[in-house]
Amino acid sequence: MKGIVFTLLGDMVEETFGLEVWDELLTTANLDGVFITTETYPDADLMALVAAAHEKSGIPVNDLVRAFGEYMFPKFHESNPGFFLEGQTLKEFLLSVDRVIHVEVRKLHPGAGLPEFAYKDVDDSELTMFYRSPRQLCMLAEGLIAGAAKHFNTEYTLEHRTCMHDGSDSCELHLTMA
Ligand code: HEM
Repeated sequence: MKGIVFTLLGDMVEETFGLEVWDELLTTANLDGVFITTETYPDADLMALVAAAHEKSGIPVNDLVRAFGEYMFPKFHESNPGFFLEGQTLKEFLLSVDRVIHVEVRKLHPGAGLPEFAYKDVDDSELTMFYRSPRQLCMLAEGLIAGAAKHFNTEYTLEHRTCMHDGSDSCELHLTMA
């Protein structure tokens, strides 16, 4: 995971619970809290912070990771406006994540740990995204999708039909857009 992800997590925790709580999570996770945006850090460090946040708050890990994805989305938008095209729909944007955005991210930041999305383009109002990643952060994907839907002002429902956490080789995220 790139330092930017840790920095954003720190921002979210600080804004929501204050700096002392972030310091406490870092201590529990045995981390010094120095993250350089473009450096790569172990995925396990991120999971240790999430586990520490779960221990402290009692909030389920899935809910924490999803909330983090939703928080991240507007930050990604702010720092990468070029990935957002005039007149684009939520569905067009989601199709561009694997085909354009993550391709560019990979070029700009070698070593970025990115997932793979395959798509089944059902019809105008439906899209299935098949998420695959050794990090199994499908709840982060759910949160990012929620953030994107908010950005595009689009109502949707999401059905997480299969999950890597249950042994499937991908997570099937079925979206129906209003
Ligand atoms: C709804 C839209 C998006 C979805 C569903 C999505 C999904 C994800 C997920 C789940 C991860 C975690 C890594 C993993 O699972 O293996 C990730 C990482 C990342 N994504 Fe996306 N993403 C989206 C939009 C974007 C946008 C707009 C950007 C803008 C630049 C972006 C850049 C990145 C970066 C920099 C990382 C972290 C790489 C690392 O830490 O090494 N993503 N993405």
